[in-house]
Amino acid sequence: MSKVDVLLGLQWGDEGKGKIVDVLAPKYDVVARFQGGPNAGHTLEFDGIKHVLHQIPSGIFRETTRNVIGNGVVLDAVIFKAEIDKLAKFNLNVRKNLFISKKATLILPTHRLLDAAYEKAKGENKIGSTLKGIGPTYQDKIGRQGLRVGDILSADFKDRLKRLTDVHFKILKDHDVTYNWAELEAQFLDAVQFLKEFNLIESEYFLNRELKAGSSILAEGAQGALLDIDFGSYPFVTSSSTVTAGACTGLGIAPRHVGEVYGIFKAYSTRVGSGPFPTELLDTDGEAMRKEGNEFGSTTGRARRCGWIDLPALKYSIMINGVTQLLMMKADVLSIFPTIKVCTHYELNDGSVTDMIPYEIVHEKISPVYTELKGWGTDLRKSKESLPSELNDYIKFLETELNVPITLVSTGPDRTQTIHRSLVTV
Ligand code: GDP
Ligand code: IMO
Ligand code: MG
Repeated sequence: MSKVDVLLGLQWGDEGKGKIVDVLAPKYDVVARFQGGPNAGHTLEFDGIKHVLHQIPSGIFRETTRNVIGNGVVLDAVIFKAEIDKLAKFNLNVRKNLFISKKATLILPTHRLLDAAYEKAKGENKIGSTLKGIGPTYQDKIGRQGLRVGDILSADFKDRLKRLTDVHFKILKDHDVTYNWAELEAQFLDAVQFLKEFNLIESEYFLNRELKAGSSILAEGAQGALLDIDFGSYPFVTSSSTVTAGACTGLGIAPRHVGEVYGIFKAYSTRVGSGPFPTELLDTDGEAMRKEGNEFGSTTGRARRCGWIDLPALKYSIMINGVTQLLMMKADVLSIFPTIKVCTHYELNDGSVTDMIPYEIVHEKISPVYTELKGWGTDLRKSKESLPSELNDYIKFLETELNVPITLVSTGPDRTQTIHRSLVTV
């Protein structure tokens, strides 16, 4: 019996999961997405081309890797079709290498409309959703009225669709939204027809069969631990379980089959959308980080909020996820700073200092307590041979604080800009 290794983001998303899944994919027989939907934007760069994947797992560019969209995912057929069409010119064997769980939940056009309506109704308290319909779709899943991918094969699919959209129309009446349903429905049904051309499977059987046969599986997370529905900065979170346990429920894999847990983090922090961000920099340093790191959303194009690395937050994510290896991304971006700050603790309103995330992270002010380290000031994107000593000091400092080895360091967006320190894979 082989294991399922899990790769996930430890911050607020956009850590570089897509790049690393692509780098690791040749070592795995199967890559499987276990939660989230087209709110994700996973970027891969190689041969001078940049690809952004939203729903398709990031192992798709590796010929021998099979890719699974698991039951925990919410799937938008319209976006899926557009994504597949975009890949057409790269001659990938997508129809052979992609498998979709019949138990994945369908995002309907009305879910997107509801997402927009709910955000508007929240006014100043909006989540900053990607408006892809994620929240309303998971609401329907948990509310036991959602439609699933397997439903598109049933003779009465259109009736089921009508039943659910009628519920949505009633809610939308109370909101100020305009839409052309005939157009949206035609586009959706066309995409549903397209979806039928793919391998629609019971992916829990598929994956467990593969495990028995000794295949190696990599579970690809979307978003990040601090956006998790239970453990993130609620309510400023996404609507799925982004943590290791989510890989079990999102794929039908028993916890005892989980092997390595790769925790990906940026050498600094970013967040897109609303919600607390203790180390956020609203000054010229933050602006410089955004510019140097090209911190603009892969899905929505929004400017990402930037700040120094946050160790209390990372410790929490490592604890919740059982991280066995840390992979540090975008170290090259910090080359512009003569001094690197590391938040080791928080000072709370009452003057106490802690390295834990307090319950009241949303309503109370949290001040980061920093330690300063010397910057390395070297362009890491070019030199690959050895890391500058100041960067090694930074890595060692983080390893000691976090008590987990950093086994990979990424020094640029391309596949090749990756330094394996002591990465253990299958
Ligand atoms: P994901 O959602 O976790 O897959 O991350 P995104 O793709 O949304 O965001 C990461 C961004 O950083 C993308 O634009 C990547 O091309 C880029 N990237 C990944 N690793 C590195 C790195 O080591 N250095 C730099 N400069 N960019 C990187
Ligand atoms: P990847 O997989 C960064 C954020 C949104 C918003 C909140 C809720 O690329 O790392 P949602 O659309 O899920 O209702 O939005 O979560 N968010 C992400 N931020 N990366 C992502 O995915 C994200 N997916 C959602 O900005 O604050
Ligand atoms: Mg992203």
